[in-house]
Amino acid sequence: MKKVILTGDRPTGHLHVGHYAGSLKERVRLQNEGNYDDIYIMIADAQALTDNAEHPEKVRQNILQVALDYLACGLEPEKSTIFIQSMVPELTELTFYYMNLVTVSRVQRNPTVKAEIQMRNFEASIPVGFFCYPISQAADITAFRATEVPVGEDQAPMLEQCREIVHKFNAVYGETLTEPKIVLPKNEACLRLPGIDGKAKMSKSLGNCIYLSDSEEEVRKKVMSMFTDPNHLRIQDPGRVEGNPVFIYLEAFSRPEYFAEFLPEYSGLEELEEHYRKGGLGDVKVKKFLNNVMQAELSPIRQKRSMWEQRLPELCEILKAGTEKARAAAAETLHDVRHAMRIDYFENDNLLK
Ligand code: TRP
Repeated sequence: MKKVILTGDRPTGHLHVGHYAGSLKERVRLQNEGNYDDIYIMIADAQALTDNAEHPEKVRQNILQVALDYLACGLEPEKSTIFIQSMVPELTELTFYYMNLVTVSRVQRNPTVKAEIQMRNFEASIPVGFFCYPISQAADITAFRATEVPVGEDQAPMLEQCREIVHKFNAVYGETLTEPKIVLPKNEACLRLPGIDGKAKMSKSLGNCIYLSDSEEEVRKKVMSMFTDPNHLRIQDPGRVEGNPVFIYLEAFSRPEYFAEFLPEYSGLEELEEHYRKGGLGDVKVKKFLNNVMQAELSPIRQKRSMWEQRLPELCEILKAGTEKARAAAAETLHDVRHAMRIDYFENDNLLK
């Protein structure tokens, strides 16, 4: 069986270090491992519209921004097919057929959908399109016969739902669709990177994100203002490492080389944490180190991003070529789906059979 990756992001804003740690970094790693027959990276504008119907401009404007973030992080168009969801109408058609295989109560039980309905104060006025987005996500994944889907942990319920749809479809219409597996980052801290305010999730609306496109100075300011252990008031006080955003970021991003370069008096993260727990290590010192780490991670990304900002027409060409390739792949699956459902009426006079 072919090994295929499909994943993507909603273009509702610039991507932040939560996206980077939770999924982008993993994608680039998998891309460069070279073990995949195909890698599809989707800019999920249609999904973004499900809760931004009145702000299509916001979605439109962020398509290029997300594409810039992708290339900046190291996704390469020769190795990964980057495309725009709404330009592949086959996905919409697949969604429509899959909708019949899912009950309303099943979608209502999807924990991510539940949380998002609450977050958006939708409750009684959920747009039908929004409600159905887990089904459309199953269409995205199966259209490319994805075997692996590298995403953040919040997407696990979507994958579960997708697998159910695959089983149901194959049971009803015969073996047609491929069952996907979720790929989560191995590093615990990368799985759940909190906002700089210590809130569980980085989100644009909370204003607690470090963006991949932030300037050096913006990153520095954000890191230096980060929430830490509120009981660690004086340097000599013992501090908590668990749940402390500064240390969670260090767990996600620090590497032995960074200690050697920026903080050689410590052998590594363990020793630094030990000192913080004991007392005698100030937040400012740790934050300065974290700033060096973040700058080391982000500065090559920032450089590549600004290079691509000068080449937007070329970026558009990349998206266009990627979308054409994606469309051809999705059309093949749609053909198989129609055949399995026996709604390929005009092929070989099938309607007469
Ligand atoms: N839901 C994902 C997000 O919030 C975007 C997405 C849409 C996606 N379709 C997908 C991710 C299919 C993985 C697979 O960013």
